[in-house]
Amino acid sequence: MQTRQKIGILGATGVIGQRFIQLLDAHPWFEIVWLAASDKSSGKTYGEAARWKLDTPLPERIAGMVVSPAAPEGAPAIIFAALDTDIARELEPRFAAAGCAVISNSSAFRMQADVPLVIPEVNASHLDLLETQSWRKESGGYIVTNPNCSAIGLVLALKPLVDRFGLESVFVSTMQAVSGAGYPGVPSLDILGNVIPYIRTEEEKLESETLKLLGKLSGARIEPLDARVSAHCNRVAVEDGHTESVSIKLATRASHEEILAAWSEFAPLAQYALPTAPSQPIEWSPAEDRPQPRLDRMRGKGMAATVGRLRPCKLLDWRFTVLSHNTIRGGAGAAVLNGEFLAALGKLAPARDQVAVSA
Ligand SMILES: NC(=O)c1ccc[n+]([C@@H]2O[C@H](COP(=O)([O-])OP(=O)(O)OC[C@H]3O[C@@H](n4cnc5c(N)ncnc54)[C@H](OP(=O)(O)O)[C@@H]3O)[C@@H](O)[C@H]2O)c1
Repeated sequence: MQTRQKIGILGATGVIGQRFIQLLDAHPWFEIVWLAASDKSSGKTYGEAARWKLDTPLPERIAGMVVSPAAPEGAPAIIFAALDTDIARELEPRFAAAGCAVISNSSAFRMQADVPLVIPEVNASHLDLLETQSWRKESGGYIVTNPNCSAIGLVLALKPLVDRFGLESVFVSTMQAVSGAGYPGVPSLDILGNVIPYIRTEEEKLESETLKLLGKLSGARIEPLDARVSAHCNRVAVEDGHTESVSIKLATRASHEEILAAWSEFAPLAQYALPTAPSQPIEWSPAEDRPQPRLDRMRGKGMAATVGRLRPCKLLDWRFTVLSHNTIRGGAGAAVLNGEFLAALGKLAPARDQVAVSA
């Protein structure tokens, strides 16, 4: 790509917004030119507005940028969005209606019939739904979403098994990091030395998004995978990295070796050379006590899902553990990968320019 495409970040001051800045500041294809957040932040410099929480320094250029109001006027045509769901429900359609490509992290539109919910390694064909969106037809804008942070690791691990053996049932129990709740998130007195066995709407999202992601595009709609998913979601005192204990029933028999082969041979994006795509999206950890969040969450620069502890299950067929970084693979990194994939397909195109040309 010759020149970097200008992009904006909506919700730039939050947990995912900060990850966007970390991943996009020196990105070879994209250039951050616009940052927006709530009224309490707009008008301030980013350095004043954001409490930078990452372990790499806040880039000086970004610290000096002035945070804009969260409105499409003056925004670039490509927007990476990390807004709270209720705000996203109101604001993302405004940006799409104004001709922006909105690459969203929020759950607001993930399950809407004409909105693609995409992991490029899993269901790239679902991006065809973009052409059916009313925003696309009217303004050139669109919304594409990435899944919930606990669905991404699970679905990456399931996809090669669905393709080779079919899948009937999944039982999953999550141990989710506190950063998954945004900043400041769960009060320290609630979570230190504790486990909270409830995350509002998380089990519903994990169950429904998994089946949409593994579903098939049929005309202008997605037919969800015909399987059953039962999820238990827990918040644990871990900073970053969601761990999930998974039991599965496959449609056909598979051996230990065949499952490991399905995971290790899974490299569906190999031909695209996307900057954020890990060469090995699913990494196998043979140690009996891995994966662990502190030790394994940064595999593949935070974009790989690590699987381990594959063993027979006495209720279903097989059980294993999967771990993924919730704010990178499960959040900002997922959206950046969606943006890169759309760019590689020639579909990210500055939508307003298209409208201007065709007008
Ligand atoms: N954390 C994760 O692991 C994770 C993973 C995947 C997806 N997500 C999703 O990503 C989204 C953002 O999550 P987060 O964890 O980054 O949340 P967060 O830390 O609470 O950040 C929320 C962002 O939204 C902005 N905002 C709030 N009200 C606004 C308004 N009225 N207008 C414009 N901007 C407003 C905030 O700006 P101010 O600083 O000015 O208030 C902040 O930049 C959520 O939908 C979440 O479900 C999160």
